[in-house]
Amino acid sequence: MGTGIMALDSLLNSPRKLTRGLLDSHLVESLLTPNPVERYVGMIDPVWSRRDVRAKVVAVERQTPRSVTLTLEPNSNWNGFEPGQHVGVTVEIDGRLTTRFYSPAGAAAGKGLELTITRHPGGKVSEHLADIAAPGMVVGLSPAEGEFTLPSTRPDHLLLISGGSGITPVMSMLRTLCAEGHDRPVTFLHFARTPQDAIYARELQALGEAHANLNVVTVFTREGTKPQHLTRATLKSICPDYLAAETYVCGPNALVDAAEKLWKRDRNADRLHTEPFTLPEPTVVAADATGSVTFKRSGIAVENDGQSLLLQAEQGNLSPRHGCRMGICHTCVCRVESGTVRHVRTGEVKTLNNELVQICVNAPVGDIEIDL
Ligand code: FES
Repeated sequence: MGTGIMALDSLLNSPRKLTRGLLDSHLVESLLTPNPVERYVGMIDPVWSRRDVRAKVVAVERQTPRSVTLTLEPNSNWNGFEPGQHVGVTVEIDGRLTTRFYSPAGAAAGKGLELTITRHPGGKVSEHLADIAAPGMVVGLSPAEGEFTLPSTRPDHLLLISGGSGITPVMSMLRTLCAEGHDRPVTFLHFARTPQDAIYARELQALGEAHANLNVVTVFTREGTKPQHLTRATLKSICPDYLAAETYVCGPNALVDAAEKLWKRDRNADRLHTEPFTLPEPTVVAADATGSVTFKRSGIAVENDGQSLLLQAEQGNLSPRHGCRMGICHTCVCRVESGTVRHVRTGEVKTLNNELVQICVNAPVGDIEIDL
């Protein structure tokens, strides 16, 4: 016991002598028992962890009044990301750990991890970070995930389209392509509400001037006499051969829906890759709101009010695991023992029998039993 305390004193008083190898050793852990190593090392270096991915904010920039750009330095557990993927960012707010998902905006092989977070009214994490993020702040990270990524063999012709804060994953794609010296045609079309809302505007202009193969166009949706949207005419004027381009779209639902309709009508849906970053206002289908939702493990049943399974679980005082709340991260997946669900975005109806479902984007149709 005495040896353990002396060893601990000497370790804590000489933090520079702590080596990763020593900290990983079972010997140190046993010296500190019953207190975990993590807690003591955390006093010296809050980013260090044997298993968890953590990152320190090293720079903060406010590019627009509604956004904050953070440069993070992750610890050695971070395995990087593919351009277009997203990561969970965990912060402590009012004593509770809360996670939200954001897409890195930097080049995949770039130094550090850049996240641009737009403040959403009522968005706990986005408001917290927009208000108080400062160099030195430490956040938790989940490994990067997501299939909205460029293929490893880069396409000959690319069209990248974004709206609002949906610019981050396609900005990452663009920066990655530029860093790789990609020299085939790329069109980058960004929709921002006004010039004041245009994130990365200066950098996009500079990239367009520096790369002959890159055509950058920004459309301001709330300037001029009538709102601007994604239409076939817009596409033809900006990228006349857009049907031949591999196309990546990230933005609000209206933008993603417009793209999906256009590409479907052109029978070209295989070339379109989309990632919405907001859910439409959940519409409750009155005919679906019958019967009850039974949370079997918790022994709770609520009347089915037609909202998503996640919302109904929360209204029943349950706290299911979740992240993005918009069908991207799969953190909320639960097993439906029996019942039918409607996808709140696509409207697709599925009858499930012991199958997994994302509860944030599926609402029950009549009676349902779920393993929660
Ligand atoms: S919470 Fe992310 S998919 Fe449901």
